[in-house]
Amino acid sequence: MHIRSLKLANYRNYEALELPLDERLTVLLGENAQGKTNVLESIYLCAAGRSHRTVHDGELVRFGAEAAYVRVDLVRAGISRRIEFRLPRAGRKQARLDGAPISRMGDLMGCLNAVLFSPGELSLVKEGPGVRRRYLDILLCQTGGAYFYALAAYQKALAQRNALLKELAQKGGDSAQLDVWEEQLERASGPLSAARKEAMDFIAPMAARMHGAISSGREELAVSYRPDLSGPALRQALLDVRREDIRRGATSHGPHRDDFLISINGAELRSFGSQGQQRTAALALKLAELFCMEERVGEKPVLLLDDVLSELDETRQGLLMEAVAPFQTILTCTALPRRRNTGAVFQVKNGSLSPRF
Ligand SMILES: Nc1ncnc2c1ncn2[C@@H]1O[C@H](COP(=O)(O)OP(=O)(O)OP(=O)(O)O)[C@@H](O)[C@H]1O
Ligand SMILES: [Mg+2]
Repeated sequence: MHIRSLKLANYRNYEALELPLDERLTVLLGENAQGKTNVLESIYLCAAGRSHRTVHDGELVRFGAEAAYVRVDLVRAGISRRIEFRLPRAGRKQARLDGAPISRMGDLMGCLNAVLFSPGELSLVKEGPGVRRRYLDILLCQTGGAYFYALAAYQKALAQRNALLKELAQKGGDSAQLDVWEEQLERASGPLSAARKEAMDFIAPMAARMHGAISSGREELAVSYRPDLSGPALRQALLDVRREDIRRGATSHGPHRDDFLISINGAELRSFGSQGQQRTAALALKLAELFCMEERVGEKPVLLLDDVLSELDETRQGLLMEAVAPFQTILTCTALPRRRNTGAVFQVKNGSLSPRF
């Protein structure tokens, strides 16, 4: 798939923008705080249904304006589609697909697939398991509504069970009240776990391959999925640990405890990796995400690269450019990279774009 054009009105520091996108590469070049990431954010919003930087949609509205508007025109499987968002300063955002309002955000999932890579992605290898679960969730939510809705159902049941655990600890009561939430956790956890396992079966060898390519085969990356319990086994375990969970006020098993281990030449990366190794591994995981998404949806996702080239040496820049050449890429930078694929270059200055020849 590829995006043909982006239109913004009163979005962040853009009063109005109409941007045609190259089928291969669009480079957004500019100094700090000019609005490069804002463009990527608005595209990501159309893919994931939310900003990657904030949960407060009101922040996306240009200072002093009442509402923001975002429109993406794309071609998917040869068919033109239009995604629109209207974001009021206060109140709920509204999405439209081909002009028709979307009542549930999950119905938008799978229409535009995008993978975003920014320097913050280093947290994938450096931080706790929550970041890695989110990596899987973002990937899988975008591949269709089923995962999106299972995840929402799971999170809701988890929050309800946790609230009830705390109430039972404070006021006492019949722990059989937990049945209803545990049943829902059992039901929602099955599809979550199955999808994550399937994705990890694809991602682990792909990330290793990508890593080998970027590090010129000197190092071996291994990724292994460590799922917690799900399905009927989860139900039984939750029943067994009720007393303990009431004491802790938290649910000790389920996909919200999943993780995956990342190691290089056998040593866990989080504790033993150098900065450069961690950066390369994060990049390999993001590239694997790109290919995994393509595999699942049968279309090439769009790649959003936010300021990542400057952190790589020239060899790695070249290898990265080679790897992403088949995907439509929108890339931001403060200085033009020497190694880049052919495409269009725009200068970004204070919320306006001008083509550079
Ligand atoms: N709601 C808003 N209304 C108006 N301007 C905003 C709003 N939100 C952010 N901005 C402005 O957008 C600019 C930041 O844009 P962005 O994050 O895209 O910068 P950037 O070009 O990616 O910079 P860097 O190279 O530092 O990452 C800042 O000048 C900020 O004040
Ligand atoms: Mg930026």
